[in-house]
Amino acid sequence: MGGDPLASAWFTALSVSFPRGEDFFIATLRAYRGDLPPRLAADVRAFIAQEANHAREHTLFNRLASEAGYDLTAIDARLLAFIAETSATSSFVNLVVTACLEHFTAIIAHDVLARPDTFTGVAPEVLALWQWHATEEIEHKAVAFDTWMYAARRLSRWRRWKIRCLIMLKVTALFVSHRTRDALELMAQDGVTGHTAKRQLRRYLWGRDGALRRLVPAWARWFRPGFHPWNGQDQARIQTAKIEAIA
Ligand SMILES: [Fe+2]
Ligand SMILES: [Fe+2]
Repeated sequence: MGGDPLASAWFTALSVSFPRGEDFFIATLRAYRGDLPPRLAADVRAFIAQEANHAREHTLFNRLASEAGYDLTAIDARLLAFIAETSATSSFVNLVVTACLEHFTAIIAHDVLARPDTFTGVAPEVLALWQWHATEEIEHKAVAFDTWMYAARRLSRWRRWKIRCLIMLKVTALFVSHRTRDALELMAQDGVTGHTAKRQLRRYLWGRDGALRRLVPAWARWFRPGFHPWNGQDQARIQTAKIEAIA
């Protein structure tokens, strides 16, 4: 990330979580594929194809990070154990967790496309990877949510709202604490440790215009009773990104 140890640790921590996370999303939606109306089933098939491609490309990115000197084995082992534990709950819980994490990826994706300054000095292929992934995350950002709404269609609106909000709070706490821990581990490998590392990362994520702090308003939209991922303004942004990619 242009030589910035904080951004490098943060984006590598995100990337390391993607292949296993995306495998989990694919397995979760695959379990529902047969029961969906045809249009949603087609969306799920396209979603699965996109996530499989992301997992493949981020595996390559993670290999580059390993070759550059990061040891990712402990982070990957924790992810594997954590995902195995989550997967063992129920397909319904896995679906809500997937919809929550897809909200996370969609708002991070929006930020990646809206804030190219984050990637100043980054190698063009690495920038292209993040922008391509971000564009596709926005493109399919409602698929897990719509699948969950369909699976939960017999529940009352109030119960649906309560379940997705409670699970979002838990998913948020775990996502933020796990990625922070992973980023600190990578910073330690770069020689930044102890209080200094914690202070620097806290400022990077939560300080004024911090990488996570600036996502809070978009994150909070999830808690509105009538929330749907396409309530935002992203259509124009992915059209622009696609046109630029073609050009
Ligand atoms: Fe993805
Ligand atoms: Fe996704």
